[in-house]
Amino acid sequence: MAYLIGVDIGTSGTKTVLFDEAGATVADALYEYPLYQPRAGWAEQDPLDWWEATYRSIADVIAKSGVRPEDIKGVGLSGQMHGLVMLDSADNVLRRSIIWCDQRTSEECVQITELVGRERLIEITANPALTGFTASKIMWVKNHEPEIFEKCRKILLPKDYIRFMLTGEYATEVSDASGMQLLDVPARNWSRYVLDKLEIDPSLLGKVYESCEVTGQVTESAAKLTGLPAGTPVVGGAGDQAASAVGCGIVREGIASATIGTSGVVFAHTDKIKIDPEGRVHTFCHAVPGAWHVMGVTQGAGLSFKWMRDNFFASEKLTAAETGDDPNYVMDKIAKRSPVGANGIIYLPYLMGERTPHLDPYARGVFFGLAAIHEKRDLLRAVMEGVVYSLCDCMDVLREMGINPTSVYAAGGGGNSKLWRQMLADAFGMSISVSSSKQGGALGVAILAGVGAGIYSSVPEACDAIISEAARTEAIEENTRRYDKIRRLYKKLYIDLRDDFEELSKIFAD
Ligand code: XUL
Repeated sequence: MAYLIGVDIGTSGTKTVLFDEAGATVADALYEYPLYQPRAGWAEQDPLDWWEATYRSIADVIAKSGVRPEDIKGVGLSGQMHGLVMLDSADNVLRRSIIWCDQRTSEECVQITELVGRERLIEITANPALTGFTASKIMWVKNHEPEIFEKCRKILLPKDYIRFMLTGEYATEVSDASGMQLLDVPARNWSRYVLDKLEIDPSLLGKVYESCEVTGQVTESAAKLTGLPAGTPVVGGAGDQAASAVGCGIVREGIASATIGTSGVVFAHTDKIKIDPEGRVHTFCHAVPGAWHVMGVTQGAGLSFKWMRDNFFASEKLTAAETGDDPNYVMDKIAKRSPVGANGIIYLPYLMGERTPHLDPYARGVFFGLAAIHEKRDLLRAVMEGVVYSLCDCMDVLREMGINPTSVYAAGGGGNSKLWRQMLADAFGMSISVSSSKQGGALGVAILAGVGAGIYSSVPEACDAIISEAARTEAIEENTRRYDKIRRLYKKLYIDLRDDFEELSKIFAD
């Protein structure tokens, strides 16, 4: 039997899973690490934390599984997208990584738009300049830390730094590279035009591969730390969204996913490239060779839930830990005691600004409609519903672009919640499925590794063999009608508050 490893370098931790060739989980391991927020709206992580979590978790799964290391035929890497890792000439990390949810780069986005031109930028990179994307982070370091930029010899994405540590290769692949804003997304390679305009030397960037191509082999030194045999192939892998989509079988037209991880994403596969001229959703290369995907992103999905849980449900979390219950299951039960519409509270989930559909780094979270009757459970339900409304905003844009999925899979940690799935079904007005595998991104990149190692002939063929629909939640019409009404007000609240968000950020600028 052949085995494959998928590593997912997430924001809260790195999860590594060892699969057999039929896609069954043999062993998994998770290592967490800190997120540094030196100022409101800033977010950084230490790439060496990711590396330590990766080699330890690979060593753990091999040890736990008892699988012979030489039977591991390939490794796939997935991870948080957009983060900026800068290396000096001796391959040392020059500064902490400025990661995907960091919002410090509004001025650099204006600069990029001026240098490249908004229309041209959307035509080439399929997106307007975005604070979350890597290009604006590079420009920020250029503008604010020129002494660091001077020393920089290589720029890598989070999972591509891990690839470098595993294989010694500077490389990336099309799905993650799409989120750097330096890739010609229709052509699936670096854009000389954008690089020239931003004065970024192309030699700073790694070689671009398709996601299932082999990008290098595990080195002797990485072999010692991980327990993998030197020479084990490492494939391109994918950005976390494309990886998780492959892991749910979103590899054909007509199928989409709604993921509730730290961020929330509505993701649809397209065989032909489709770009929103207003830039409200991202069009990226898919991890399926020759295909693209369109996705709407809400910044604060699971993040809002975790913020609520950790700040206001600490004692429930503690009790759950004592009784051995899953704290998220306990939270579901509490939220269920509040009715559809959370007794009149509407939550805007903009704790880290917002992407789809507003592209607004200044947007902030709001509880609207608080009254003396409200209890904690109403606030909790409002948070879960607010996340769903923002995912509906993403779906609305996709539908406007002529993308009308007939089947939607819930994914991410939030996709495990029955209540959240019911809310999604009700608010989308369609049934919501879950796939047979819970390993999402790790399975997705293990599948890519299997294609690279020649175990499967193509990504869709592998998905057909490994993934099936495990359950389906139907929409309740009465709830759909209620959510339609609430959503009209939800959409208006942002428009009413837009200028106030910016004003607030000015008051607290120092
Ligand atoms: C995608 C995105 C997130 C991050 C972190 O554009 O920003 O998926 O990769 O999960």
